[in-house]
Amino acid sequence: LFAGPVTFVKGVVAMSGLPPADRVEVCFAGRSNVGKSSLINALTGRKTLARASNTPGRTQEINYFALGEERYMVDLPGYGYAEAPVAIVAKWQALLKSYLAGRQTLRRAFVLIDMRHGVKAVDAEILALLDRSAVTFQVVLTKADKINRAEREATLAQVRGALAKHPAAYPELVVTSSEKGEGIVTLRAIIAGLE
Ligand code: GTP
Ligand code: MG
Repeated sequence: LFAGPVTFVKGVVAMSGLPPADRVEVCFAGRSNVGKSSLINALTGRKTLARASNTPGRTQEINYFALGEERYMVDLPGYGYAEAPVAIVAKWQALLKSYLAGRQTLRRAFVLIDMRHGVKAVDAEILALLDRSAVTFQVVLTKADKINRAEREATLAQVRGALAKHPAAYPELVVTSSEKGEGIVTLRAIIAGLE
């Protein structure tokens, strides 16, 4: 998979808690329940490394995972969870903003979009934030196993249209299913290839 063991490093609730910025880092952002934690588990081949859950808003911290000595993979708290208390949402948003804008070693942000839903208004906010932060981002479509071919094409077209406005977007979309393994090898290679 990756060079060296995959380990959980720490959960961070404030910028002051981030580990030293001494290696290539990628992060996974996306709406609550889109499948961020499941994707990290699929990528690392470890079923229970990141905690996946049916309860939206499960991941509330910035969770750091080390891929050997060379890379960090970062599981971000989900956004757009309507039932979360307002004060908590504000705190997450502030942390997310500081992180995306202030992390020097962040090489790419993977923005996860549920293949059944496409890019929604809450996603557009994150894309705008990434543009402003000049962080290269790449859209990863999740839960591909849940839709048929025609729906897949429709979502891909909608996402391409939405991305046309975003200068920081990396053009290649990655279609994945953490459940069935689709796209996992491709995404692993993308992450391994970032310098
Ligand atoms: P938060 O931490 O709440 O932001 O959610 P998350 O984005 O980490 O989502 P998580 O990985 O916990 O997955 C949410 C739900 O979607 C779980 O019930 C997963 O089993 C399910 N799920 C995730 N990926 C897939 C997939 O590729 N296919 C299918 N069918 N279900 C998936
Ligand atoms: Mg999660």
